[in-house]
Amino acid sequence: MKLIYPGSFDPITYGHLDIIKRAAAFSEKIYIAVMVNSSKVPMFSADERVEMIRQSLVELDNVEVITFNGLLVDLFNLYDIHAIIKGLRAISDFEYEFQMAQMNREMNLKAETLFMMTAPQYGYLSSSLVREIHRFGGNIHEFVPSVVEEAMNKKREE
Ligand code: COA
Repeated sequence: MKLIYPGSFDPITYGHLDIIKRAAAFSEKIYIAVMVNSSKVPMFSADERVEMIRQSLVELDNVEVITFNGLLVDLFNLYDIHAIIKGLRAISDFEYEFQMAQMNREMNLKAETLFMMTAPQYGYLSSSLVREIHRFGGNIHEFVPSVVEEAMNKKREE
């Protein structure tokens, strides 16, 4: 089975990596798609996000990182994908994810979505919280890989 894991990954966190590693264990291939979420203004460029994801996942050989500035469902026609994989953190994620899963399938019948429960230790984590904690000098070491922490320190210095 080939899966696609979409997100804005601004930046990738241990919560995302947990889902990717667990899904990689039962799938043939996972495309990690750095997508545009039109309601968010990103801190990192798409290329920077791709590079951080690649460096965080060097040990997995069935993962490929791509970027796409369009509809997620259109990737089903470009790649041989069986399903979207997403993580659910809390009940609050459900409504939004339910809406997106249904809309994606409305647009493309092939676009099935599979959900995995986020590991409990990452249930409270989000990329924007990591950015905020870092901006105010908090410690993000336990939330993101060192490559991300270093890139965030560099951005702050700039
Ligand atoms: N552990 C920890 N945090 C997690 C997580 C996990 N397992 N899974 C998600 N998160 C966090 C993300 O970091 C993100 O945090 P933020 O809001 O602070 O940035 C938040 O949860 C929401 O994640 P997600 O629901 O994946 O949103 P996203 O913005 O990362 O991605 C897209 C949304 C890009 C997948 C969606 O906008 C999209 O598909 N866009 C393409 C255009 C399109 O097809 N639109 C039509 C959709 S019907």
